[in-house]
Amino acid sequence: MSRGAQLQLSKTRDLPFPNEYVKALLGEFSEWAFDEERVLAHKGAWRKQFGVSEQTPMDLEIGTGNGYHFAWRAENHPERMLVGLELKYKPLIQSIRRALRAGCKNARMARYNAVLLNDLFVENELNTVFIHHPDPWLKQSQNKHRLIQDKFLTDLFYLQKPAMEVEFKTDSEEYFEEALPKFKKSPYKVLGWTRDLHNSEFAERNFVTQFENIFLRKGQPIYYALLAKI
Ligand SMILES: C[S@@+](CC[C@H](N)C(=O)[O-])C[C@H]1O[C@@H](n2cnc3c(N)ncnc32)[C@H](O)[C@@H]1O
Repeated sequence: MSRGAQLQLSKTRDLPFPNEYVKALLGEFSEWAFDEERVLAHKGAWRKQFGVSEQTPMDLEIGTGNGYHFAWRAENHPERMLVGLELKYKPLIQSIRRALRAGCKNARMARYNAVLLNDLFVENELNTVFIHHPDPWLKQSQNKHRLIQDKFLTDLFYLQKPAMEVEFKTDSEEYFEEALPKFKKSPYKVLGWTRDLHNSEFAERNFVTQFENIFLRKGQPIYYALLAKI
C-alpha cells in the first residue's frame, strides 16, 4: 500500500455511528466545512467557489484545535480568506462554529490530513500558512509522524505564492530542535526564530493559542520560526 493511501482518512459519510460533530459536518455546517471527500472539489478553485476575486489572499491554518486563532484571524482579516484543516471532528466543528458566531463569512474548514496538502491546493494557491503547536509525537517510535518533514516543506513551498510566510510554533523543545535544521535545508528562507517567543521581537504580533496558554501557565518557553518563500 502506498504512503498516500495509508494516510487517507476513513470516509465520514460511511461512519456507522456518527456523533453530533460528524452530523454537524454533514448537515448544519456543510456550507462552511467539508469532509475529506467534498473538499477535493475545491483544489485549484477555492477563490472561485468562495465567490471572491482571484486577487483575494487565501491563508491556511493547519491543525486549528478548538479554533481560537482561526476565528480571531478570520474576524480580524475580513479582506482575506482563511481555510483551516483538522483531522478531528470536534475541534473542526468548534473552529467553524466559533468563526461563524463571530460573523465571519471568509472562513472554511476541512477534515483532511495536512500531510497530503497536494490533494487540496495547486501551485501558488496559498498565501500565509500557520502551523501552531502541531502534535509533537514525543515517543521515538512516533517521531516519523511529525508534520515537519522534508517532503512536507517542499510540497508547502510549491503551493504557496512567492514572498509568502509560514508561521511555526511549538511547545516542544525536542520537536523544534528537529524542525529547525529541516527548515534551514528546505527551499524556504528562515527569516527568524527564537527559543522563547514571549521574550522576543515576535511577541508583539503573537496570538496565544489554547495549547500555548497551557504551557505558558506552566512557565515553559514557546519555540517559534518564521519562514518565507523567497
Ligand atoms: C496540539 S493541537 C494544537 C491546536 C491549536 N493549533 C492550538 O495551538 O491550540 C494539534 C491539532 O492538530 C490536529 N492535527 C494533528 N495532525 C494533523 C494533520 N496531519 N492534519 C490536520 N490536523 C492535524 C489535531 O487534531 C489537533 O487538533
